[in-house]
Amino acid sequence: MSLHRHTPLTIAALLATALAAGPASAQGSGKLRVGLMLPYSGTYTALATAIENGFRLYVSEQGDKLGGREIEYFKVDDESDPAKAVDNVNKLIKRDNVDVLVGTVHSGVAMAMAKVAKETGTLMIDPNAGADAVTGPMCGQNIFRSSFSNWQPGYAMGAVMAKRGHKNAVTITWKYAAGDESVNGFKEAFTKAGGKIVKDLTLPFPNVEFQALLTEIAALKPDAVYTFFAGGGAVKFVKDYAAAGLKDKIPLYGAGFLTDGTLEAQGAAAEGLMTTLHYADALNTPRDNAFRLAYAKTYKLQPDVYAMQGYDAAQMLGIGLAAVRGDVSKKAEFAAALRKARIDSPRGAFTLSASHNPVQDIYLRKVEGKENKLVEVASKALADPGRGCRMQ
Ligand code: BEZ
Repeated sequence: MSLHRHTPLTIAALLATALAAGPASAQGSGKLRVGLMLPYSGTYTALATAIENGFRLYVSEQGDKLGGREIEYFKVDDESDPAKAVDNVNKLIKRDNVDVLVGTVHSGVAMAMAKVAKETGTLMIDPNAGADAVTGPMCGQNIFRSSFSNWQPGYAMGAVMAKRGHKNAVTITWKYAAGDESVNGFKEAFTKAGGKIVKDLTLPFPNVEFQALLTEIAALKPDAVYTFFAGGGAVKFVKDYAAAGLKDKIPLYGAGFLTDGTLEAQGAAAEGLMTTLHYADALNTPRDNAFRLAYAKTYKLQPDVYAMQGYDAAQMLGIGLAAVRGDVSKKAEFAAALRKARIDSPRGAFTLSASHNPVQDIYLRKVEGKENKLVEVASKALADPGRGCRMQ
C-alpha cells in the first residue's frame, strides 16, 4: 500500500514511480495500479474504511490478483471536499499513474472525479456516491457504479410511506447533491401516490446543528418525516430527533444510510426506525452469509452497506479484467463484459443498467436491536431512469 498524500511531485519521485510500475501497466502486465479516492477524514471516515475493507476482502479471496494481475493500492483522502476533488484525482492519475479509480463516497466529489475520468479516459468504479449525474448526463463507457443512485432508495421510500397511510411529510437533509436527489426521488413517488410535501428543510453539509430545524418540525406537525443523512451526521440526527421528543410523535423514515453502520452509536434512539436500501442485515442467503462471515473474521467487525459496495466494486473490476485478460486499455471489451454480467453480490445478484448503475431490489428494513432487519422487498429490480445519459 502506498500513501503519497504529502509527497512532493519531484522528477526523482516520478522516475521512482515509473520504475516501480514495471512494464507499462496498460498493456495488461505488471501490477494493476488501483487508486482509492475516499474520505479518510471527516463525517464519512467510517464509510471509507468499510469500502476499502470490502474491496480488499474480495481481492484477497481471489488470491490477491484480478484478471491475472497483482494489485497495488494508492490512496488519497478526498476529505469529502468537492473544491479539492480535481487536484486529488489528478494526484492519482498523473502522479501515481493508476489504471483504475475507485471512489468515492460524497456525491459532489464523485461528480468532479467522473468529469476527470471521462476527460482522461480513466476507468472509474464508484463504490458509493449516489450522484444521479454519474450515471445520468455524465455517464460514460469507462464509468461504473457498484452502489446506487440517490434516486433509488428515496423513490422506493416514497411509495412505502404513501402505502403506510401518511398523507403529508416534511423532508430534512444536507443541502448538496445526495440530499437533494434523495429527497427528489422520495417526492416523485410520494406525490405520485397522492402525498403532499409540507416543507423541505435543509442545512449545509456537514453541519449537525439540528435543533432549530427539529423545533420547526415539531411546530409543523407533519404525518411523517423523510430524511437523508449518513455517517457521523446520521448518528447525531437520530439521537437529536429522539432527544427532542419527536420519535414517538412524528414517525421518522429515511434512505437506509440513516441507520447503516451507525446502530452501535445510535443505541435506543434508532430502535424501530424504518428505512429503504439495497442491503439489509440478516438477508440470510448463502452468498450474504459467506460474505458476512469472511468480513467478520478478517476485520473483527460486522459489514455494512459500504463494505458490501466496496466488495462489489472489486468484484466488478475482476469481471471486466477477466474479460480483457488484465488489459485495461481494452475499454470496449471491458464495458461489454460488465454490461452482460450478473453480479453475484451479497445484496442479491444484480445487473447493470444501460447507464452502468445497479438494477437492484430495494429492501424495507426496520431497526431491531443492532440490526436493520429485512421487512420486505419494497421495490423489485428497481432501475434508475438514467435521465440524460447518452452513452458514447
Ligand atoms: C453521497 O454523497 O452520495 C452519499 C454519501 C453517504 C452515503 C450515501 C450517499
